[in-house]
Amino acid sequence: MPETADLLPASRPASFAGTASPTVSIDLGDRSYGIEIGAGLLDGLQEDLDLPHGTSALIVTNDTVGPLYGAAVAEALGKRYPVVHTVTLPDGEEFKGWETLQRIFDALLAHGCDRKAVLFALGGGVIGDMTGFAAATYMRGVPFVQIPTTLLAQVDSSVGGKTAINHPLGKNMVGAFYQPRLVVCDLATLDTLSAREMSAGLAEVIKYGPIADMEFMDWLDASMDALRARDRAALAHAVRRSCEIKAWVVGQDEREGGLRAILNFGHTFGHAIEAGMGYGVWLHGEGVGAGMVMAAELSRRLGLVDDAFVQRLVALIERAGLPTKGPVIDASDNAGRYLELMRIDKKSEAGEIRFVLIDGPGKAVVRAAPDALVREVIDACCA
Ligand code: NAD
Ligand code: GLY
Repeated sequence: MPETADLLPASRPASFAGTASPTVSIDLGDRSYGIEIGAGLLDGLQEDLDLPHGTSALIVTNDTVGPLYGAAVAEALGKRYPVVHTVTLPDGEEFKGWETLQRIFDALLAHGCDRKAVLFALGGGVIGDMTGFAAATYMRGVPFVQIPTTLLAQVDSSVGGKTAINHPLGKNMVGAFYQPRLVVCDLATLDTLSAREMSAGLAEVIKYGPIADMEFMDWLDASMDALRARDRAALAHAVRRSCEIKAWVVGQDEREGGLRAILNFGHTFGHAIEAGMGYGVWLHGEGVGAGMVMAAELSRRLGLVDDAFVQRLVALIERAGLPTKGPVIDASDNAGRYLELMRIDKKSEAGEIRFVLIDGPGKAVVRAAPDALVREVIDACCA
């Protein structure tokens, strides 16, 4: 894989000033779709939104989100589809595996859903990733709609068509690229999210600054308190700008031939934390928060950014309520365990770990680094 810097196109995503439209488009030819962003969108689901036609709808949700929003969504869909079913899965990253996925297929078959069934993912990234994978494979592919209800899912996981389940040995190791037909981000659903989950979502918001848009990072510096207080206008800006940057990347590199890997800033270390600690112990966004610190520190030690940049990023991550130090996964050889886990990363090539690094503020590069240096970074950044 060439270094991502070589693949960066000349044009950057439009500047922050030009983001007035409430709809963001993912431009993928005949698989293009919109991301609707606003408060109260679930109420208007039946009237305004361009939903795929189908013979039935299956809402996939979990036992936390279902009781909050399931009835409203089912009622709205009842006006658009001849029949609406719901499958409620157990809540948690530890359930993002084969057994739970099978329950979606069980429901589809038990209800006699045909190839014109439409799946609706109502929940956070775990529900979105599993529903997308089920949609990609049920009868070799049926349409699906993302209704993300966490900040993380609204700014990242519901957009771009990466679907997967975990394997005990590695995060998101089994999956498919499969695009939704529509993404509906109802900002009002974020009112019921815990503070810890809000912070986890902010990790995926923050990442867009260092990799692509320092103007957005300036805005985040100024707006972090408003975001944590769930100010609707601030959230709308954050979700829209994050989706715009993601749309810009995915539109050029849907299947991660190169450029798309920059969206994994902080994730190589973060996935090792998640898998190493046991899925669900550290939230995905928490792993990404500490992982961005490690990736920035590795960038600094490789001479790509200065200390002031790293300190600024660490301060922003801390203000988001996220950990800035990684956990000790293995007391006997912590760095060795991180390295072992990171070699399973999907960006690895022939066992060589490839990191998303910051090559000057607002620009990412994907490259390998000497194990000895990575060990030093892990030793310095874990507590
Ligand atoms: P999650 O889906 O586990 O949701 C977090 C928690 O919030 C859960 O307990 C959930 O039930 C609860 N919840 C969801 N919406 C709620 C609401 N409105 N009110 C109250 N509680 C609510 O976690 P997540 O952070 O949304 O997603 C993390 C997952 O996303 C990981 O599995 C990660 O691998 C994946 N991910 C995928 C992509 C992608 O491109 N496909 C990108 C980033 C992350
Ligand atoms: N979340 C990383 C990606 O969608 O590529």
